[in-house]
Amino acid sequence: MLIHPIHPQPNGPLLPVVAPARRQEAVEIHRILEARAPQTIVTPLATIARNIHRYGVIRSRDGRVLACAALMPKAPRRFELRSVAVAPGFEGQRLGQHLLQWAGDEAHRRGLLVLCVTTHPKLFARFGFKPISMPAELQKAERENVKLDSPRQAMILEPTKAIQHFWSVA
Ligand SMILES: CC(C)(COP(=O)(O)OP(=O)(O)OC[C@H]1O[C@@H](n2cnc3c(N)ncnc32)[C@H](O)[C@@H]1OP(=O)(O)O)[C@@H](O)C(=O)NCCC(=O)NCCS
Repeated sequence: MLIHPIHPQPNGPLLPVVAPARRQEAVEIHRILEARAPQTIVTPLATIARNIHRYGVIRSRDGRVLACAALMPKAPRRFELRSVAVAPGFEGQRLGQHLLQWAGDEAHRRGLLVLCVTTHPKLFARFGFKPISMPAELQKAERENVKLDSPRQAMILEPTKAIQHFWSVA
């Protein structure tokens, strides 16, 4: 899917590129999630730090984290997309779309099936996610997240057909 370029801003991102998060960025990621609660679940800082290699971030020109997302393993080829969040003040610049594109690219490249629970099903649908009934493996987390006030939809993104084929014969 073609994403229109974002408008350059003095303190905006240099390029809307999702890069692997660095160890020292766990605190910034945690701060963004806290700032976006209760729309997003605040993962404990220690958990973010432990799983930092699973996070993608978009940075500003001066190196601050502006947006984040995480692909967390659920089973060997089944991942959950979590913590999709943009720092306050940077919404509407298509950073969210770049995070979803990143998740989709990773899913296709690595042959992953991606699950998520989202408050923005229409946005996710544009990137190939399809609505499903809540999978049992996500129900426990949902019950724990009663603070989230918006309606939430479970969604799934399947790898491309070519990769599914490769996967089935691998
Ligand atoms: C949801 C979120 C990730 C979207 O990121 P973003 O960079 O602001 O969104 P984008 O600029 O990429 O825009 C994506 C589209 O979603 C729409 N959109 C953005 N935020 C929205 C919102 N809060 N409600 C409804 N639609 C929204 C935009 O209008 C845009 O649609 P368009 O292309 O037709 O104009 C971001 O606003 C955010 O961090 N929200 C708080 C945390 C949150 O809700 N996370 C949970 C996601 S499951």
